[in-house]
Amino acid sequence: RKFPENFLFGAATSAYQVEGGWEDDGKGESIWDRFAHKHPEAIVDGRNGDVASDSYHNWRRDVEMLRELGVDFYRFSISWPRVLPNGFENNINENGFKYYDDLIDELLKHSIQPMVTLYHFDLPQELQDLGGWTNPLSVNWFEEYARIVFKRYAEKVKFWITINQPNTICVEGYGSKAMAPAINSIDSAYECVKNVMLAHAKAYDVYKKEFKKKHEGNVGIAIAVNWYDPITNSTENAEAVEKARAFQLGLYLDPIFSKEGNFPVLVRKIVDKKSQEQGYSTSRLPKLSFQEIQLLKGSADFLGMNHYTTFLVKPSQQKYPSPSFEDDVGVEYSQGEQWTKAKSSWLRSAPYGLYKACIYLNLNYDYPKIIITEHGWSSDPGLRDSSRVDNLRGYFGALLLAMEDATQVVGYTAWSLMDNVEWTAGTSERFGLYEVDFESENKTRKARLSALVLKNIIETREVNLDW
Ligand code: BGC
Repeated sequence: RKFPENFLFGAATSAYQVEGGWEDDGKGESIWDRFAHKHPEAIVDGRNGDVASDSYHNWRRDVEMLRELGVDFYRFSISWPRVLPNGFENNINENGFKYYDDLIDELLKHSIQPMVTLYHFDLPQELQDLGGWTNPLSVNWFEEYARIVFKRYAEKVKFWITINQPNTICVEGYGSKAMAPAINSIDSAYECVKNVMLAHAKAYDVYKKEFKKKHEGNVGIAIAVNWYDPITNSTENAEAVEKARAFQLGLYLDPIFSKEGNFPVLVRKIVDKKSQEQGYSTSRLPKLSFQEIQLLKGSADFLGMNHYTTFLVKPSQQKYPSPSFEDDVGVEYSQGEQWTKAKSSWLRSAPYGLYKACIYLNLNYDYPKIIITEHGWSSDPGLRDSSRVDNLRGYFGALLLAMEDATQVVGYTAWSLMDNVEWTAGTSERFGLYEVDFESENKTRKARLSALVLKNIIETREVNLDW
């Protein structure tokens, strides 16, 4: 089986996870800087983003690695507080922009397309102090930030991702303590969902109205689209999986990609009812106005699909705290015992799930144009990463099958180009095609076996499968 000639291959990173230089040259503090400094105990091996893979100084080497791989594009993110230190448009940090100027020019010099993510979890702390994504003004803050970046790079950047994984930002950052800013309030999580989705839509609108005609770029959003299957074929499990899909996928996909727009009816019903029972006078899930629904509908030139794994779902046997996101969804997740385990506790290999997720997207959202904006595997350190190679081959096989069945996938992005700071897991989970020696002064990078395998697939377009 072969990938078509015009299929695009890329590799990804994000600013906090690789850049380091956390206070260099006028960069402002981000919520991850604050969180990691205040709660060092929350980071598994204590390695945070202060230095990370030091891409702030190693960007030439990063581009060299991308050339070695032979990729068509590089997906990286811009650190909002690096370019607007306190988040607002009136204070632009030229030194910060200079870093991205250099990186982008170096990429283009070698015919590698930059794919820029505007927001990958690192909000300027000053905006957090004003409520962050729970403040409705965050929609305007993001719009202004997006316009500044579009203006600067529209000539050079043709692939844009507004926001990476609203579910992680809101449910894990506001509805739990798993990610910064670790607010842990379910009320704020749904406010966050509304604002983050609207911020995306506004930025899309800005590009469409002010840049699209002249620059003809594409703007999308990256959503975590893992797959959810019932653990066995029973009516209860079928109901449970419907809820899981509505809360994990539909909440973010429906407003943009469905015909009706708006949040899923099932999520609306459940949260409205529970909110009432819990003594709220209005639903914890805020409403979208007619104008907001219109703004969101169709606000993506492609769906950025981050896909890692599959979860098996059944109704929850335990009582979750109420109110909480877990209580709203009311299900329990597990994974196939026989699926190969990665280093991360949540990650097992189940390529068939990618196939099924693609078919689900086709049926529910009418064959959207998709770029896989992330897929990857975590391992221990070491260059002979055969588990990552197996995972890659398996998922490529599934992807090719989905494409045979008319899924409109135009590109694939490996997460990650190199080992980096895996949020609270620090560097205890390695996702890199390239290994980073975090003990070394220069954060030396070395190609893993998987890098060579991917390079070969990109060159030949062919994946050897034994089935
Ligand atoms: C995130 C990345 C993260 C990866 C592995 C994705 O959901 O966007 O930042 O490193 O998962 O956990």
